[in-house]
Amino acid sequence: MFTNVLKINPDNFRTKELKEACDILKNGGLVAFPTETVYGLGGDALNPDASSKIYKAKGRPSDNPLIVHIADMQGLYDVADDISENGKKLAKAFWPGPLTMVFKKKNIVPLSTTGGLYTVAVRMPGHAIARELILQSGVYIAAPSANISGRPSPTKAEHVIEDLDGRIDMIIDGGSVGIGIESTIVDVSCEETVILRPGYITKDMIEDVVGNVSIDAAIKGIPKKDILPKAPGMKYRHYAPKGQLFIVKGDACMVAAKINRLVYEKENKGYKVAVIATDESIIDYKCNIVKSIGSRQHEDSIAARLYDVLREMDYLNVKYIYSESFGDDILGGAVMNRMLKAAAYNIINA
Ligand code: TXA
Ligand code: MG
Repeated sequence: MFTNVLKINPDNFRTKELKEACDILKNGGLVAFPTETVYGLGGDALNPDASSKIYKAKGRPSDNPLIVHIADMQGLYDVADDISENGKKLAKAFWPGPLTMVFKKKNIVPLSTTGGLYTVAVRMPGHAIARELILQSGVYIAAPSANISGRPSPTKAEHVIEDLDGRIDMIIDGGSVGIGIESTIVDVSCEETVILRPGYITKDMIEDVVGNVSIDAAIKGIPKKDILPKAPGMKYRHYAPKGQLFIVKGDACMVAAKINRLVYEKENKGYKVAVIATDESIIDYKCNIVKSIGSRQHEDSIAARLYDVLREMDYLNVKYIYSESFGDDILGGAVMNRMLKAAAYNIINA
């Protein structure tokens, strides 16, 4: 299949530039597009053929449901049932934006889109291109992140091209995304409001709007065999670079010393090794490849670079990667959540 790559400036585009993309969506085809979190792989959420194409293009397990993207509140009422007070309050506070909410689904949403669940995850993105695509096509867009399953989520069109060129109809290149990690997912379909995936909207921000919420027990710490996460996708190893990633925890100067020792050992054995540091600590490392993921003074910069740095490790064909750790102070633990998965929970204490 030929994949058309279309460049569009999100800050200045005309509606007709998106006409072909909208036609593809209306006809059951697939278009990758930028959102403020990561690039999404979009298809018609109400068309079972389109959702099965999404699973196929990504190599995604069919029990892992898709998020339905809407552009206005009418969209929510069309796809979701029994919308709770907390759901309404959170929509008012954070939509359009990087928050996904799980509701009971309406019948028009096919089970193939929801991975067989009777709930549906809904998000109203704030990105101009994403919004225009939904409004102009009149299609509610099912969109997982636009990567091959298991690879880091795409934050630039180049990442999407790497993974999906030849597998989908179109890729809209709208430049780098702003946030760089996926939306926060909150289940508002039951009595208790529960965070299923941490993201840019933190627990504190959510509690400011609806009072106490909990975090799905299955996603705290190392995964437990007997408790499955409520977001099916959270059980898969994700965001994984090809090399072996280790997170080194502890006091900053101890971490640098420990990592330098580990690097020395591995480089001596002839392995290609890399360190993931920050703007503040980059000078502390002795390694042939040291990458800064951003500044600890600006937590947003760390989220924005995370997946790009993980992909860079693959281009460089690195065998061992040692990274500093990023605690709950950085975006309420959302960055660390992704890092731990990428590292398959390999933690070294300095
Ligand atoms: O920021 C984002 O959310 C991006 C952009 C493109 O919007 N999308 C994204 O989609 O990250 P994806 O498919 O990579 O992750 C969706 C997550 C999966 O973990 C999935 O299991 C969960 O949402 N999910 C979807 N529907 C659900 C439901 N009904 N109940 C529980 N979890 C659900
Ligand atoms: Mg994903």
